Amino acid sequence: MSIAENIVLVGFMGTGKSAIAREISKKLNFHHIETDEMIEKREGMKISEIFEKKGEPYFRKLEHEMLENFCQTATEKAVISTGGGMPVSDLNRDLLKSLGYVVWLRTTKEETFKRVSNDNNRPLLSGGEMELKILTLMEERDPIYEEVSQFKIDTEGLSISEISGGIIDSASYFFSKHEV
Ligand code: S3P
Repeated sequence: MSIAENIVLVGFMGTGKSAIAREISKKLNFHHIETDEMIEKREGMKISEIFEKKGEPYFRKLEHEMLENFCQTATEKAVISTGGGMPVSDLNRDLLKSLGYVVWLRTTKEETFKRVSNDNNRPLLSGGEMELKILTLMEERDPIYEEVSQFKIDTEGLSISEISGGIIDSASYFFSKHEV
């Protein structure tokens, strides 16, 4: 099997995808691509504003187009941190898998709540009953993250450096076993 040599991070909101991707990209000298950031730049709006003014389906369409476009044009090795809902669409899951080694970052519902409760740029969790929203969405999405990823890592209690080191080691092993 021939696969692209990128590292793709998926997982629920608040699992630290961006910070970990940044650290891995520094250590490996890879590009760092953040899908939400690209969407915000393109639209000139924060994610919460896009949801509010244009709606979630519009955001999902942008998310898909951006991923598709990236898959067609990417030439350099990259660490890609994705928005938590990116793998929900099966088309996106196929694209993510085609990009390289997909890693699922996990954390508990309690820790997620602690990390996101003061954040107002996560529209899916706003408007009250945040704990229930986290619980429901996580239960719905866990099988999806499981399906799309080759490796999962429980991040709680680990430093960014430990998590990124673990991902780099497992990715190196994976790429050494697959033709790239
Ligand atoms: C979303 C996660 C967010 C962002 C948007 C939707 C989701 O990204 O893409 O608010 O559906 O889980 P983070 O996972 O970086 O918070």
